[in-house]
This record gives sequence, C-alpha cells and structure tokens, in this order.
Amino acid sequence: MDMIKNPGIKIIESGVPDEDIRTFRKCLSQFATGVTVMTASNGTEMAGMSVNSFASLSLEPPLVLWSIRKESASLRIFQEARHYAVNILSDNQADISNLFSKSTEDKFSKASWFKGILGAPLLNGVICTLECSLENTIDGGDHLILIGRVKHYTRYNGTPLLFYQGRYGVANDLPAALMKQASLSKEPVNAPSTPHLSLLRRLHYVSHLISSRFNTQRQALGISVAEFRIYGWLNAQTMTEQELQECIYLSQEEIKDALQAIKKRQHLEYQDTQKIHLTKTGREYAMFINQQVKNFEANLIQGLDKNTLETTLGVIDSLINQAKSA
Ligand SMILES: Cc1cc2nc3c(=O)[nH]c(=O)nc-3n(C[C@H](O)[C@H](O)[C@H](O)COP(=O)(O)O)c2cc1C
Repeated sequence: MDMIKNPGIKIIESGVPDEDIRTFRKCLSQFATGVTVMTASNGTEMAGMSVNSFASLSLEPPLVLWSIRKESASLRIFQEARHYAVNILSDNQADISNLFSKSTEDKFSKASWFKGILGAPLLNGVICTLECSLENTIDGGDHLILIGRVKHYTRYNGTPLLFYQGRYGVANDLPAALMKQASLSKEPVNAPSTPHLSLLRRLHYVSHLISSRFNTQRQALGISVAEFRIYGWLNAQTMTEQELQECIYLSQEEIKDALQAIKKRQHLEYQDTQKIHLTKTGREYAMFINQQVKNFEANLIQGLDKNTLETTLGVIDSLINQAKSA
C-alpha cells in the first residue's frame, strides 16, 4: 500500500480549526449534502429555516437529527412547538433555500405550503416530508442538536437539490465513461472512445469533461467560484450584498469571503455602505476574466469550421427546446 498522502495532489490549506475558522468551514463544505427546510409552529407563530446539517440517525426507532445555531431567531419556536417537519428540497427549489436562509418574518407568505398532521407547515414542491415529534435536544457547542422521532412521511417524485463548497448543485449519475476507471487507477483518466455511448450519455460525459477543465483553469487563476460569479455580476452593475446573494446562489459565508478577497485586491468599493461596485482595476480584472472565458471557448472549438460549429449549436439548441417542451 502506498503510504504517501494523496500523492500528486496539491494541498490547498491545512491547519487547526482554532486558528482559522474560515478554512475549517471550507473543509466542512467539501462534504456534499442535500438541502432541507425545517419548519414548526407553536400555534401562533411559524418558523422555517434552510438546513443542511440534517442526518438520519436510526431506523428502529425512526429517528433523525439536525443542528440549529443557538443564536437563531427561530430556535424558540422549535423548542416551544415540540415538533418539526423536515422538507427535503428538490433541484428546482434553490430559491426556496435562499428565502428560508434569510432572517425575515414573512418567509411563509412567499412560499406555497399547507398544515401537516402535527401542525408544522409543509412546503409544496419538495421531494419528501418527515413530520417529527421533538424527542431530545443535545448541546453541541454553538449549536443545539434536535433529535426528532418520525411520525409520518411522504415521498414525492423528483431529484434533490445539493449543497457543497458553499454552492448549490444538482445530482447526476457518474458519467458511464468514468466508471471502473477513476479512483482505483494511479494513472490519470484517459478519455475513452465513445462510439458505444448513447446520445444522453455522451452529452452527460462531455458536460462533465468541459466543466472539469474549465474549473481547473479557473482555479489556476486563483479565484473561487464565488469570486468568478461576483466579478461577472458587478462588471455590469452596482449591487447590494443581498441582491448578489439572490443572483449567484451561494451561501452568505461564501459571498462574504469572496467579497473580502476582492476588496483585498482593491477591486471593489462600497457606496453608501450598502451598494458594492468594482473599482477601475476591478473592472479591468473582470474584463480579463471574461477574456479567459472567451479563450477557453475558442480553444474548445478550435479545428471546427464555421459551418460545423453553427450546425452543432443549432443541434444543441433544438435538443434544448425539445427537452423543454417534452
Ligand atoms: C444550505 C444552507 C444550509 C444551512 N444549514 C443550517 C444548519 O444546519 N443549521 C443552522 O442553524 N443554520 C443553517 N443555515 C442558516 C440558516 O438557514 C439561516 O441562518 C436562517 O436565517 C436562520 O433562520 P432565523 O434567522 O429565523 O434563525 C443554512 C443555510 C443554508 C443556505
């Protein structure tokens, strides 16, 4: 057995959590989760918040758990209610996750829901609800762990919304062409030939390959996904942090870290304390990134003549339209 730790893989950061909580948080976000909205009602007030600390705990008895920040405004209602509902979000509910991760009082007026058997609001459009009685609470540092006993479940069709590295994603099967080759091999994965693959699998595979290549290029520039998206949005307009959050579908922490990094480069300024805009050098950098994207695309299609390219784009557009209307 090879005793070298992760040979050939570059360490991005390592350390002890006490000294740098931000990088510790980034380590935790390497673990992909689904997204739930936890809901409860104490009879007069309702609480709802986006949560990814949800986990199954036991089948017999049927127990689940999640943790809530002790400073959360919703904690009191969850404790008073003595029950809660787990609403597992579908991959077209990133807006719902955004909504329930804000500290506003009118979250439920903007969502579609109905009352469940234990009194907790149940969200429409989710892929599963678990209605639980509050079994136990356990202290967990700056969080409180809420163990629930599942009293009733409902499963719907659909695929889950994912959350990892501070951003939302959708689940995809492992591209068939990568199976059996990836993790056990010491050699880099060579592109296998694809004639045996169906259209769907080919599309899936090419999308996986291109986005991996693009991510490698972005990482080489030393900018995170959040920074990349923020430069894109702020290049065209001035926005508040709240507006940015609604557009770029990233966690608040990820956005704050990215804004700090961009500010450190003296690429952004705050106007009237709220509005954020790029400085002149910031805009130049945003243009540079834009050019990198164009170069990446040019590189990707090099060797294709104009007609082939137009036909290819036409085929892709028709597939999109057909899939949308199906
Ligand atoms: C994807 C995602 C997962 C989250 N997971 C948790 C969690 O597990 N526990 C927690 O206390 N807050 C979590 N939050 C933050 C809360 O949703 C957020 O602080 C919310 O405003 C809390 O509601 P409150 O302001 O009514 O307390 C998460 C946010 C997001 C976007």
